[in-house]
Amino acid sequence: MKFGVFLPNGSNGYILSAGSPVYTPTFEHNKAISIEAEKQGLDFVLSMMKFRGFGGETGFWDACLESFTLMAGLAGVTNKIELFPSIALLSQHPAVTARMIATIDDISDGRCGLNIVTGWNSPEYKQMNLWPGDSHYEHRYEYATEYLHILKTLWKDGRCTHNGEFFQLNDCRMYPTPSREIPIVCAGQSPTGKQFVADSGDFQFVTGPKAKVKPGVADIKRRAQKAGRNVGVFALMQMVIADTDDEAVRLTQEIVQRADIGAIENMVSSATMDTNKEGTSDALKGALEESVEEGNMVFMAVPVILGSPETIAAQIDKVAVDTGIDGICFSWPDFVPNIKQFGEEVLPRLQCINAT
Ligand SMILES: Cc1cc2nc3c(=O)[nH]c(=O)nc-3n(C[C@H](O)[C@H](O)[C@H](O)COP(=O)(O)O)c2cc1C
Repeated sequence: MKFGVFLPNGSNGYILSAGSPVYTPTFEHNKAISIEAEKQGLDFVLSMMKFRGFGGETGFWDACLESFTLMAGLAGVTNKIELFPSIALLSQHPAVTARMIATIDDISDGRCGLNIVTGWNSPEYKQMNLWPGDSHYEHRYEYATEYLHILKTLWKDGRCTHNGEFFQLNDCRMYPTPSREIPIVCAGQSPTGKQFVADSGDFQFVTGPKAKVKPGVADIKRRAQKAGRNVGVFALMQMVIADTDDEAVRLTQEIVQRADIGAIENMVSSATMDTNKEGTSDALKGALEESVEEGNMVFMAVPVILGSPETIAAQIDKVAVDTGIDGICFSWPDFVPNIKQFGEEVLPRLQCINAT
């Protein structure tokens, strides 16, 4: 089992509530988190990219540090942990992205991967006149397939000629090539998103209610096997950790009671525009009524593991055995102290780690 951190490079991290820390993202904060994660032996940090937040009383994601430049900075202050910036495909030409990744690969001495984001929220791109039209909702994984083909060609050969539906490159050069094959992750949840990862990615994220994780893992593994490939599957989860179960329940209740309804409404209404079916947007719309453990909208429809270190260790072991996942990417209400407690008091109790 591998463990990673979903870095809070957007305001307030991943909780839409005034009942957990409300902050503007900074390099210092993300640096402290990455250094603590590395110290505790965690495997990777992943930063996201959002060009427009969802407002509300907490100004959810209204500020967002740019993912690549942040990871370049983190590459210089860490030594072992893997770094995954997120590329919002519509924002940048693949030849520029290929070069930025090659640069972070160099800075980090071969620790850089890439998270592919196809874009489910048109206002982020429309404000820059980068939205190709609503057909992108349904064709975004065809766009991603062509984009990733160009990236991989440039990384392997240092040059690419390509005449496709979305991109034309004429003997485009890109040196230096990276020191290793760049690991590709993607969180596509829709059938087309999952097929994209099975065909072209290395790691897939599953999210949504815990009951969906096991079939989600089986589905992506089956698709990958059919494509003759091997794809690792990670769950995305939130963790509310405290010294006792009662305290973790109290913290969680406060988060739910102080939900930022304005930001939640804005996020769900953006998701409502997405016409790609059975993906993240449908999950967000369905998550208003879910329990916290299964993924309520306050926690962005992401399931929460909560309790004392002992309880959390037992829950993680259960998820590992029940679902067959290869790892979990976590976020927390208060990242630095929560990661410290996770590393010192949960990791040593885990049987799923000690078994591998
Ligand atoms: C770990 C993780 C990271 C993600 N990072 C981003 C991101 O940086 N920007 C973004 O717009 N969406 C991000 N997403 C959303 C996914 O890319 C989203 O699930 C996908 O675009 C929608 O899947 P679908 O197209 O199959 O519905 C992330 C999701 C997960 C689980």
